[in-house]
Amino acid sequence: MKHKFLLLLLAGMALLHTSEVLGQHEDIPYQAVADICKTCSCQNVQDSDHRTHFTLDCSVRNFEHILARWPVELTAQALSAGASTQIVLSYSGNQIKLLQQLPATNASLSLSCRHCRLKDLQAPLFMDVPNVEGLYLSWNELTDDALVPDLFRGPFRINRYEPIGLRDLDLSHNLIARLDRRLFEHTPHLTGLNLAYNKLSVLDAATAASLAAVSTLQRLDLSHNGLMSLPADLFPKLVSLRVLDISGNEYSSVPPSILQLGKSLLQLNLAENKLSHIKSGSLQGLDVLKRLNVSGMHSLRIIEKGFFNLPALEQVDCSRNVHLERLEVADFLASRNLSQLDISRNSLTTLVLNGTTSNSSIQEPWPRLRRLSIAGNPWDCSCELLKSLELAGITHIEQQTDGSEARCETPYVLAGAPISNFTSEKICNMVIPRKYRPVDEEPPRFLRRRYIILTAIIASVVVVIGLIIGFIVTCVRRRLKGTDYGVQPIRYTSVRGSNISAISQLQPTSVASKFNNAHAAKNSAPATTGASHA
Ligand SMILES: *[C@@H]1O[C@H](CO)[C@@H](O)[C@H](O)[C@H]1NC(C)=O
Ligand SMILES: *[C@@H]1O[C@H](CO)[C@@H](O)[C@H](O)[C@H]1NC(C)=O
Ligand SMILES: *[C@@H]1O[C@H](CO)[C@@H](O)[C@H](O)[C@H]1NC(C)=O
Ligand SMILES: *[C@@H]1O[C@H](CO)[C@@H](O)[C@H](O)[C@H]1NC(C)=O
Ligand SMILES: *[C@@H]1O[C@H](CO)[C@@H](O)[C@H](O)[C@H]1NC(C)=O
Ligand SMILES: *[C@@H]1O[C@H](CO)[C@@H](O)[C@H](O)[C@H]1NC(C)=O
Repeated sequence: MKHKFLLLLLAGMALLHTSEVLGQHEDIPYQAVADICKTCSCQNVQDSDHRTHFTLDCSVRNFEHILARWPVELTAQALSAGASTQIVLSYSGNQIKLLQQLPATNASLSLSCRHCRLKDLQAPLFMDVPNVEGLYLSWNELTDDALVPDLFRGPFRINRYEPIGLRDLDLSHNLIARLDRRLFEHTPHLTGLNLAYNKLSVLDAATAASLAAVSTLQRLDLSHNGLMSLPADLFPKLVSLRVLDISGNEYSSVPPSILQLGKSLLQLNLAENKLSHIKSGSLQGLDVLKRLNVSGMHSLRIIEKGFFNLPALEQVDCSRNVHLERLEVADFLASRNLSQLDISRNSLTTLVLNGTTSNSSIQEPWPRLRRLSIAGNPWDCSCELLKSLELAGITHIEQQTDGSEARCETPYVLAGAPISNFTSEKICNMVIPRKYRPVDEEPPRFLRRRYIILTAIIASVVVVIGLIIGFIVTCVRRRLKGTDYGVQPIRYTSVRGSNISAISQLQPTSVASKFNNAHAAKNSAPATTGASHA
């Protein structure tokens, strides 16, 4: 009896629950619009191959929901024509809290709803839109709960859900902390995934597994998430990954798992991380890497020789590392295709590029160099620096867009002068007046090492002497007291009390008498001054 009742209750609850899930969004209406192209802006273009490009721009229209159907301007023929019709649809800048299922079309679709205050997504979104290509949902309030695998499930055929054609997914600037292990199981064509500016501070097993399964992925952006590590099981299957952005995270060293991308990775952004010391071989094996960004690291002080020894490098941004004082430009001699090198706004004083070997490759190390940015460093305009710059191709040195130019900081006579004003011939033959030569600045006397040691020794000697004196004084006092007690019982029994008090109060009384004396002197002093005044 009891069991039956319980079962009934459970069944009832289950039913309630499912009906709640099914009916969760059914009562929410779509945006009512009579003549869509009067409210939104429509653009219909037919290209020479009879392909239709339809743009429906409903951005910033105060919508609270999406449209239930396509505008009549999009003919049924165009809607069912498959990929030969392209629809670009934007709801960005509206207040659409829930993105509902989209109206049916076989055309290829690109949908954006940025800055929409989205909190929820109705699963399945694309059941009737199997050819959706791009989905751009950045700057919303999406959390982990909104991202379920069923979101992306396609139409049901025979005995399974068809996959959808999604290639590009932008979920940046949301509140995502983890991903469902099966999130991308219906999107086998995904090539670009942007998860920048979320809360993925730790890639847990499920999140890593969901990403690791997208073997078609070519671009992955995990920047600005507070990441400290990259799991080792993330990359083995991502054999097509070409662009990886992990900038703006908390990395204190280059994550070693990146080396698993050696055969495919073309672009790597490590900027704005907490690296302070970059080890020599951190990227060894990234043989096709063309673009590398190691800029904006405020704690970076050392880049070991050999780090930039990457043969395919073309563009390097190593700027705005305010504590970086040394850079091994000779490392770049391995990169014959180098075309852009930005080493501006560091703390570099010189560059060493040996021109002594008369090798043809050293004569013109980077035949394709187009831009070399060196402004904003405290350059020491030495013979060595000018020679290195000329070897690198001083003609490619560019002015910063803000008009600032690379200038000498030292020696004193050249301070402030643009480097472009000099040639190595001029500098190497220049006699720098002796009085302007930099003197080795020593720390002030009291900060020098031997002075510190000497001070410590003196201090300890003083302390020891003080202790000894103190010890002697106590001994003497003990002794004095001892003899005093020895005397007592013999004679002055009658005045014993007064005697003891006389001895024990010896000092206080003397102090008191001194004080009294001083007091008296003070009291008499105004009288004398008064007298002199008078
Ligand atoms: C899309 O194509 C399928 C067949 O491939 C068809 O069953 C469906 O009706 C089409 N949908 C639309 C909206 O034309
Ligand atoms: C390097 O990364 C920083 C921060 O992401 C960015 O501001 C900068 O433009 C990047 N440099 C290049 C050359 O793309
Ligand atoms: C340099 O560029 C050329 C042409 O783009 C290419 O064939 C060559 O492989 C590149 N060199 C390296 C080391 O990547
Ligand atoms: C540069 O050349 C000098 C000889 O002129 C040599 O002593 C030095 O080791 C060379 N440095 C590098 C980094 O090749
Ligand atoms: C000089 O160049 C040749 C090829 O041109 C190369 O084999 C050799 O290693 C180079 N020597 C040095 C010291 O770079
Ligand atoms: C740089 O050279 C130009 C002429 O070549 C000269 O007018 C200018 O004063 C120089 N600037 C400095 C700071 O020496």
